[in-house]
Amino acid sequence: MSDRLDAPLKVTGRAKYAMDHNLPGMAYGYVVVSTVAHGQVETMDADAAKEAPGVIAVYTPFERLDLRTPPVSPIMGETWVPLRNTDVDYYGQPIGFVVANSFEQARDAAMLVRVTYDEKPALVSFDDGLASAEDAPESRGNPPQIEVLADEVESIEDVFAAAPFVVDHAYRTATQNHAAMEPHSAVAVWDEGELTVYTGNQGSNLIATELAGALDLDVAAVHVINPYVGGAFGGKGRTSTPAFLAAAAARELGRPVKAALTREQVFTATATRATTLQKVTIGADADGTILGLRHDSWSSTAMDRSFVEPTSHGTSREWYATKNLSISQKMVPLNIPPTTFMRAPGEAPGSFALESAMDELALALDMDPIELRVRNSSLAPPGKDLQWSSKHLDECFTVGAREFGWSPRPNARVEGDWLVGVGMATAMFPALRFPATVGITLHADGTAEVATSGADPGTGLLNVMSSVGAESLDLAPSRITPRLGDSKLPPGGMSGGSTATASVGTAIMLAASEVLDALLALASAPGAPFAGQIVTYADGLLHGDTDTMPFGELLRAVGRESLSANGSSAPGEELTKHSFSSFGAQFCEVRVHRLTGEARVSRLLGVFDGGRIINDKLARSQIKGGMIWGVSAALHEALELDGVGRFANADFAGYLLPVNADIPDIDVHFVQYPDTFHNAVGARGIGEIATVGVAAAIANAIHNATGVRVRHIPIMVEDLL
Ligand code: MOS
Repeated sequence: MSDRLDAPLKVTGRAKYAMDHNLPGMAYGYVVVSTVAHGQVETMDADAAKEAPGVIAVYTPFERLDLRTPPVSPIMGETWVPLRNTDVDYYGQPIGFVVANSFEQARDAAMLVRVTYDEKPALVSFDDGLASAEDAPESRGNPPQIEVLADEVESIEDVFAAAPFVVDHAYRTATQNHAAMEPHSAVAVWDEGELTVYTGNQGSNLIATELAGALDLDVAAVHVINPYVGGAFGGKGRTSTPAFLAAAAARELGRPVKAALTREQVFTATATRATTLQKVTIGADADGTILGLRHDSWSSTAMDRSFVEPTSHGTSREWYATKNLSISQKMVPLNIPPTTFMRAPGEAPGSFALESAMDELALALDMDPIELRVRNSSLAPPGKDLQWSSKHLDECFTVGAREFGWSPRPNARVEGDWLVGVGMATAMFPALRFPATVGITLHADGTAEVATSGADPGTGLLNVMSSVGAESLDLAPSRITPRLGDSKLPPGGMSGGSTATASVGTAIMLAASEVLDALLALASAPGAPFAGQIVTYADGLLHGDTDTMPFGELLRAVGRESLSANGSSAPGEELTKHSFSSFGAQFCEVRVHRLTGEARVSRLLGVFDGGRIINDKLARSQIKGGMIWGVSAALHEALELDGVGRFANADFAGYLLPVNADIPDIDVHFVQYPDTFHNAVGARGIGEIATVGVAAAIANAIHNATGVRVRHIPIMVEDLL
């Protein structure tokens, strides 16, 4: 298992992130944000700012930059572009951009911009907004409501009325920010009508396309470079405000512009995870068979309604076998910053509700919660015909129960002042892939480059490319140079949706076979060293009738520096044959202090069925990060709105994140069944599933420890006093 290839550069500070690029003549931009939650910008007096030392320009909705709304992205949806008009839809919305000779000058001048608003009443409270909730638009092919009923059933209400056991509860989850270490930032430079933008993102070619649309350019004239990304998690899938503003201002001013959000601005000028309310009803037979399942969800969204967290669809649509299923997804438009994809969008908060309800049902039935889940395991998503391609969830439970020391009816323990309990939950996340193209170049020095535009936001994609490239080319990994993070490379889709390994890996295998075919043709062509012979390739060597030659030597012999080929893959026929998902089981032990109510996670164990694992070390690291996210969601993270729509804790002092002392050793296991129905590499996604179910497992463990059922996250000290 190779170590993370980019680690030495990152830990020694040699990795150049977007903001580390400094160009001659560069100016600095500072974003101005709104201080009301709803209304119109009436006036923006920038005179004092323009007079301030070092200021080059001030852009506002009245003195605009040349930016337009780009076409809707098929993967990420609509992107909001700043300074297009005077509308203010939330507190902290970008409304201006000050450019100066230094960052400090730009920031100081930004404080001098005087804004007046025609302020309108703002709807900021989720509970107030519930009254005006709307059906969510169709997403991932899911309509806002789905009902599947057995032939003889008229209404799911009848199922619940007749069921011997029913649980029926409401659960709530909090707004979160991606809080990536690297704030959204960009350095933009123009050269003869061509734009280069250094900006951390999840898919450089996708950002290049959006920037081209916003700046009315041919996409070939836009070059987006993101060699290193300091975390993304769904929050860098769209082009950021600094990238739009720096690119447009650099064009206007004829000099490079650098811009970054402050940490506080990251909380409002990007996007967040929705707040949700979820009502789950499960009716079951005495043996635990689920007779009916209903999951109704309300997710907050911004007034532009550009994203709805699909909690009902993400979980109850797929997780358990039942003949009677009713799910609905509503949105609650508010004057809040946009909501967007965040690690396991839908499944992360959805699993808190569903898996808490499953625990409540297991207790009502006096049944082992694992047994309840196994009994209702699905062969296919309810209402769909296509069976799962490969599902080893039961083995995840078995391995997890053994390694964790799970007893079927866990009893709480008391250790001094600490109440100790255990909990578990299922994890699932759909296995997807996106179209991807990879270019492979064989070099005369005997090395090979494997390249795709994409991004490695810390996921380990560089290592995946190196490993899959090495095995596809039958070369040692040390001879492979993976290249990523440059929109001029073949279009590699995005690091999002837990898709990159499956998408890029498959394209690598196809590119390798293309380039090796071309190599064999070159070797046996007239005049070449193996002219007229049957040539084979293995282990970096060409084998002819009598001779053997390294491929680099062959290239030199025919007068070539290199040989390249592309391979492209996209989801296709497999979608007509199977349903695809990754699976997992989460276990945890929690200690709650009997006097202070403090809850501490003392053990965490996750077992995952994600198909083939390409790099065990990096996969474990990825999974641990996701499980820590789950702890964070359960016990720490929540953005709190005050009465006027301002986040009251939009900084790292008030927005709680776990630190090392909050996280125990995390035990990760994989059951490995390569899923070649899904893609040739056999790997399904593991990026997002890691966080799914963790919050429910913790809430279930807290209940086990204390007898207190908390139906919201984060769970706070005051919930347990
Ligand atoms: Mo993500 S939420 O996989 O970009």
